[in-house]
Amino acid sequence: MDTVNLLQLENEEQIELHKKARQFANENVGNNVYFRGLIEFSNMCKNDCLYCGIRKSNNKLIRYSLSKKEILDCAKFCFDNKYSSIVLQSGEGQDIDFVVNLIKSIKTNYDLRITLCLGEYSKQDYQKMFDAGAERYLLRIETTNKELYGQIHPNNMIFENRMKCIKDLKAVGFQVGSGVMVGIPGQTVEDLAKDLDFLKEMDMVGMGPYIPCKETPMNKEINFKKNYDFSLNMVALLRLLSPKINIAATTALQVIRPKGREAALMAGANVIMPIVTPQKYRANYQLYDDKPCVNESSKDCMCCITNRIKSVGLNPALGEFGDSLKYQERVK
Ligand code: 5AD
Repeated sequence: MDTVNLLQLENEEQIELHKKARQFANENVGNNVYFRGLIEFSNMCKNDCLYCGIRKSNNKLIRYSLSKKEILDCAKFCFDNKYSSIVLQSGEGQDIDFVVNLIKSIKTNYDLRITLCLGEYSKQDYQKMFDAGAERYLLRIETTNKELYGQIHPNNMIFENRMKCIKDLKAVGFQVGSGVMVGIPGQTVEDLAKDLDFLKEMDMVGMGPYIPCKETPMNKEINFKKNYDFSLNMVALLRLLSPKINIAATTALQVIRPKGREAALMAGANVIMPIVTPQKYRANYQLYDDKPCVNESSKDCMCCITNRIKSVGLNPALGEFGDSLKYQERVK
């Protein structure tokens, strides 16, 4: 069966696909689920992506930036609780010197792997971040369909630039992650199949359903159930296409089904990103409506995530960096 058909599997056949992918994960990356503490350190953004709740034009939210001290406290929480790895995420346009200085301080104080998720920079700036000690970088392509990419981004955001950034990140030496949104209005199953072809060359992937946000121009009616199923099938197929890749069970899945993240783990995902942003800021970092965990504390999220992992018979891999085995293969 080809990818386009596999993506559309339902019922028993879908269950079989997910089972096979989980088994494949066990054989290739084991039954560990790695933690990445997600620090959403600023919702300031210079971009105006048509789908995103923190886009520049959204004036319904309070803009915030954590102080360096607050960010270091989040990192400390992750270190103390053996997450072993953090993700520094923000809107786009962070000052490069601030970022470099921050990375150095975190690396001096805590033995943590650092993933950055800050958007598009020049190759020189990526090099500075890498030299400061960050090991990983996430930059979603959102969709590999160039025309669709153009429709959901403002004119100043160029598909080719995005692709170039991903190439630069690899050349600099990062473990590189990308991802797509599943179920963007106008996206076809063929598009998703092509997305998989692109994503299988990454070291890490995070993808989930597109969830409308009221405060954006793209707030359209969508088929949640279909996007949920496609997202899980994407995870399963990606695991089969790229056995050693790290795949995140993303929070967006949980908007559609309370056990969405567990379902992704059972379909072959092996990474989870508990939010560690201080609770008082969380309501202002909603990329989409009904984002889970907004009213929880970092401790709540830790317990909740650990239980979710255990509930599906997998191992919460605290104390392990969980570097991408795919990356290790790639740079050998
Ligand atoms: N629905 C789902 N995912 C979204 N993101 C941004 N807005 C939405 C939305 N409305 C995702 C994008 C981005 C990541 C940080 O969050 O894929 O790269």
